Amino acid sequence: MLRWGLLSTARINDRIIDAVSRSDRSTLMAVGSRDDARAQEYAQQHAIPLAFGDYQALLDSDQVDAIYVSLPNHLHAEWSIAALEAGKHVLCEKPLALTVAEVDRMTEAANRTGRVLQEASAPRFHPQTSEIASIIASGRLGRILLCQGTFEFTLPATQDIRLDPEIGGGALWDVGCYPVTFFQAVLGENPTVVYGRAFVGPTGVDLAFAGTMGYASGTSVQFTASMATPMARSARIVGERGSLELDQPWLTNIGGMTSVREWSMRASTGAGTFGDDPGQLALTEWDYGPSDVYFDELRGFEDIVLVGAPSPYPLAESRINAEVITALYESMRTGREVRVGTGS
Ligand SMILES: NC(=O)c1ccc[n+]([C@@H]2O[C@H](COP(=O)([O-])OP(=O)(O)OC[C@H]3O[C@@H](n4cnc5c(N)ncnc54)[C@H](OP(=O)(O)O)[C@@H]3O)[C@@H](O)[C@H]2O)c1
Repeated sequence: MLRWGLLSTARINDRIIDAVSRSDRSTLMAVGSRDDARAQEYAQQHAIPLAFGDYQALLDSDQVDAIYVSLPNHLHAEWSIAALEAGKHVLCEKPLALTVAEVDRMTEAANRTGRVLQEASAPRFHPQTSEIASIIASGRLGRILLCQGTFEFTLPATQDIRLDPEIGGGALWDVGCYPVTFFQAVLGENPTVVYGRAFVGPTGVDLAFAGTMGYASGTSVQFTASMATPMARSARIVGERGSLELDQPWLTNIGGMTSVREWSMRASTGAGTFGDDPGQLALTEWDYGPSDVYFDELRGFEDIVLVGAPSPYPLAESRINAEVITALYESMRTGREVRVGTGS
């Protein structure tokens, strides 16, 4: 049984609170806030037994085994490390950190303390993501040449942590991290070069980001991330013999259907066409039911901590994604392509 402490009173907590309430291996024990009155009120609203008006006091509680870090992005590293050093397991909201150096310090703290540190990238815990990876690896789509991903929404507020460049705001950090981690998972390959352009808003953060990632295999990924345009979520994976279209690649629309369409080339495409006859394509459709991805994430974390299961999204991959995202921001600033890693 994992006894959870929420580090902050963030809105996203609702997802984990709901998941914990439905799990027989987790229980919600405590909340910590910068403000004591807010902690008390929040605990009362959500029937949480313990409330702390100070983050460190929550970490020091012997009534808590696991901490959910739902702080603004610039505080993820500092407080995840503090939680690990207090002997707690940590599920830290995405993005894990804002620099590779921070990810390295967090990883070192996890290794030193022997506690689990996991980035809360929920789609990595969902069967759709691993099955798409298997389909691509099976080769039935042929060599993958092109991919596209879109995660766009309209931020309802003018005051939001996402609008502050000093605390890790920006559409790429907020929702661009989904396509980056998704394509890492399904392609089984990391980019060697990236290029990014953005529409930057008055507060200095990217409100809309367009990124390109290039791979040693020859695959190209294009993605968009926006918090200033109407809701749109989709992904396309295009191989030489077939393609996949996903309605919900990021899975964050809880209860929304996870539909996939696969287009395959028929054996004979007929003579005398330019390959543009719709009849040459066969369509197969399936789904993974309605998304319950935060519950999947909680179950996955419980498996890692309680039964030693391997993480579907280990820290080494979080590290590469931090490198890719910071390289995309560097490209946005310089107007140049930026090389990343070794593409392994
Ligand atoms: N996985 C997902 O689907 C998903 C969805 C949304 C957000 N997220 C991630 O979850 C995290 C929180 O996002 P959110 O939108 O839920 O945050 P939020 O509602 O703005 O809450 C952030 C909380 O952090 C605390 N805090 C500490 N220092 C702060 C500061 N300088 N400014 C503002 N708040 C501060 C506050 O709690 P106290 O005052 O009580 O200490 C605040 O309630 C982010 O990392 C985000 O990327 C993930």
